[in-house]
Amino acid sequence: MKTLMIVVVGLYTCLLLVSLVFADAGAAKLAAARCSGCHSTDRICARLGARTAEVWAQTVQRMVSNGANLTENEAKTVAEYLSTAKPGAKPLCQ
Ligand code: HEC
Repeated sequence: MKTLMIVVVGLYTCLLLVSLVFADAGAAKLAAARCSGCHSTDRICARLGARTAEVWAQTVQRMVSNGANLTENEAKTVAEYLSTAKPGAKPLCQ
């Protein structure tokens, strides 16, 4: 019984970690795809690690007003990703 519990909890933890990694990769690709149409991503990469989540959310909202093609949910995903991405993060930065 105890072994079963350990296996179940272990599997659950693995799945959770895998889904977090994939969510992050998805957000990175979304940012790379939707944030490179009007200017190079250098503009974004120069600021990674230097803005709070709140300021990134405002920046992404401003890009939506500039014409960026993102739903409200996608904008949130991209802003969250940018606030945690490290300078030089792939595939956004070269
Ligand atoms: C429809 C065109 C367009 C798209 C798509 C776009 N941008 Fe911009 N971006 C602009 C324009 C125009 C400026 C300069 C004016 C300004 O800052 O609003 C700019 C400037 C910037 C700047 C420099 C200004 C600052 O706040 O430091 C950053 C950072 C930025 N964009 C990030 C992004 C991100 C992140 C995305 C994807 C969510 C994105 N952009 C998508 C048009 C766009």
